Amino acid sequence: MKKLHIKTFGCQMNVYDSARMADLLAPLGYEPTEDPANADMVILNTCHIREKAAEKVYSDLGRLRLDKETRAKRGHRTVIAVAGCVAQAEGEEILRRAPHVDLVVGPQTYHRLPEMVARAERAGGRQLDTDFPADPKFDHLPKPGAAGQPSAFLSVQEGCDKFCTFCVVPYTRGAEYSRPQPDILADARELLTQGVCEITLVGQNVNAYHGGKGGLGGLLRALADLGVPRLRYTTSHPADMDDDLIAAHGDLDQLMPFLHLPVQSGSDGVLKAMNRNHDVADYYRVVDRLRKVRPDLALSSDFIVGFPGETDADFQATLDLVKDIGFAQAYSFKYSPRPGTPAASMEIQVPEELKSARLSSLQTQLNNDQETFNRACLDRVMPVLLDRPGRHPGQAVGRSPYMQAVHVEDGEKWLNQVVDLQITAAHPNSLSGVPLSPNAKACA
Ligand code: 5AD
Ligand code: SF4
Repeated sequence: MKKLHIKTFGCQMNVYDSARMADLLAPLGYEPTEDPANADMVILNTCHIREKAAEKVYSDLGRLRLDKETRAKRGHRTVIAVAGCVAQAEGEEILRRAPHVDLVVGPQTYHRLPEMVARAERAGGRQLDTDFPADPKFDHLPKPGAAGQPSAFLSVQEGCDKFCTFCVVPYTRGAEYSRPQPDILADARELLTQGVCEITLVGQNVNAYHGGKGGLGGLLRALADLGVPRLRYTTSHPADMDDDLIAAHGDLDQLMPFLHLPVQSGSDGVLKAMNRNHDVADYYRVVDRLRKVRPDLALSSDFIVGFPGETDADFQATLDLVKDIGFAQAYSFKYSPRPGTPAASMEIQVPEELKSARLSSLQTQLNNDQETFNRACLDRVMPVLLDRPGRHPGQAVGRSPYMQAVHVEDGEKWLNQVVDLQITAAHPNSLSGVPLSPNAKACA
């Protein structure tokens, strides 16, 4: 067997794509390895959403060049591929800056990897494929493999037509595309037969899904009917939270009470400049309606500070929104100008020091709120899917319904099961729990 190492940057979409790349290359004799230095092929599956991600790719490529040279001295060939959104955006530039890279493949063409790899192995020669093909790649991918994990990502939608002025996704991932519902249900059935008990539907704009009757709400209902024990979806746009999707949060026990709903800013002026297509009042309305049908819903969000033209008052409005909503967790970023996006050429860019100061005060508030939310879980009993071993011997780790990491000492025997845990400690980023035995519901 040949060894394949895939390093994944960025979003859950990339995690899904990496797993599919491994599925695609298995028939060519590649098996996964954690060790890039001894791999016959290394794929960097990249993210272009913020500046540092692309820089990290180039620095990783520097390290890989040394590994490739060391292996070559021992008579081994190493194929190096760059996939994902940096591949799409930078294209030829990668081949120019990193002459040891063999393949550059975009997010819409990675189903062609087997041919590209076979060609690279036979004849050598460097190849670039960053097309947006007319027929979707999903039609060319093998059946999904759960790789023995009880929790799986399932891609239902890709690309985005929203064109938020800060974002590269519409350019790197292309136009919005929803997979037909029957194809998704077939994949879900396959995952269930492999013992999966939690499916997270992924897409850049997953609640814009329109590949079947009833949009994303209809798809979630169909998956619940199919018998998927736990469902989640990410990532969503506030303007696409339609009535049926909101109702599904109240109707479906299988749908976990956690929603990642990026708001980006608490200022109407900034939201308008971002072309977000909703205002602050719309966001509150959606949250109120969700909480009405599912009072324990935990919310998460994304924030950008220092968007061009953001004033102190705009930033204060973001802090006010954060205080009002009370997020269970959130991601926050300094605005990073992405070449080719409208916001990058807006005149009033916010100085770096001010962005840093705002980020740090926003994160203080968000971290406090996360800790408060975690503390409120103390002594509660919740069903946790223990899906991986922890760092301590015998420890198991899983996700609470609210997406918190939960650690269980001596929990190994519960792995791959949903276990009712009593929460015994709350930390800033995680919880600890003990099983209320004997109550595990085996699911994988
Ligand atoms: N600068 C900073 N953050 C960004 N995001 C997307 N584009 C940028 C950018 N140019 C953030 C948004 C989005 C998340 C995935 O990344 O908050 O929701
Ligand atoms: Fe980017 Fe906006 Fe589309 Fe999200 S909705 S992927 S932020 S353009």
